[in-house]
Amino acid sequence: MKARIKIRRFNPETDRKPYWAEYRLDAQPWDRVLDVLVKIKDYQDGTLTFRRSCAHGICGSDAMVINGRNRLACKVLMKDVGARVTIEPLRGLPVIKDLTVDMAPFFAKYRSIQPFLINDDPPPYTERLQSIEARARFDDTTKCILCAACTTSCPSFWANDSYVGPAAIVQAHRFIFDDRDHGAQVRLAILLDSDGVWRCRTIYNCVEACPREIDITRAIGEVKKALLLGDVE
Ligand code: SF4
Ligand code: F3S
Ligand code: FES
Repeated sequence: MKARIKIRRFNPETDRKPYWAEYRLDAQPWDRVLDVLVKIKDYQDGTLTFRRSCAHGICGSDAMVINGRNRLACKVLMKDVGARVTIEPLRGLPVIKDLTVDMAPFFAKYRSIQPFLINDDPPPYTERLQSIEARARFDDTTKCILCAACTTSCPSFWANDSYVGPAAIVQAHRFIFDDRDHGAQVRLAILLDSDGVWRCRTIYNCVEACPREIDITRAIGEVKKALLLGDVE
C-alpha cells in the first residue's frame, strides 16, 4: 500500500512549537507501525526520534498515539490502521524529542506505591508458597508492562498530573492482593492521598488503551473497596 504517515515532531532545543511532518512510502499490510517508523528513520529522515526495544509487545517502550488512540507501535498492523496514519507522542508527559516522552514522572508515581514485596518474616528454607487461588487473585495485574498508555489516556491525569494514575494503581493492586505481602495497609494509605485512587472518575479510557487487556477499572474498584472496608478481602 502507498502509505502517508503524519508525525507530530518537536525538538525543544531547536523548534518553537510542535509541527506535523509528512512521509510517503510503500508499506505492506502486515508491516507494523513500528516497522514503518524504522523505514522512515532508515531511508528518509535519520533525525526522527522514537523509543522501542523488544518490538514484540513486551517491554512497553513504544507507546504512542496512533490515529488518536494510545497503542504500542509494535502491536499495530498497517492493514488495521489504513494507509493514512497520524502518530503523536503520549499526552501529558514532557516531550524529549518527537515521539519520545520523558517517563521520569510516570516512574516516580510507580515507585511511590512501593512496588516490591514487603514481608519481614524470615525467609523460609525454600520459596514462599502460595495456593493457586491466592495467586489467581492478582494474576491480571501482573501482566502490566508499564507502558504508560493507560495513565496518559486518562482525562483525570490530563486535568491534574499529580494524580497517581491507573498504572500505579494496577501495580499497587498486584501487591495489595498478594497474600505473601504484608504492605497492603502502607499502600492503601498512600492511595488514600488526595492525588490517589479517588481521583479516578471511572472514565474507562485506560481500559481501552491497555495493550495487555488488563481490567484496570476492576482493579481500581477493588482498591477503592479495600479502602472503604479498611481491609483486603
Ligand atoms: Fe500499560 Fe496496561 Fe500497564 Fe497501563 S496497565 S501501564 S496500559 S500495560
Ligand atoms: Fe482515568 Fe481510567 Fe479512572 S481513564 S478516570 S483511571 S477509569
Ligand atoms: Fe517493546 Fe513495543 S517495542 S513493547
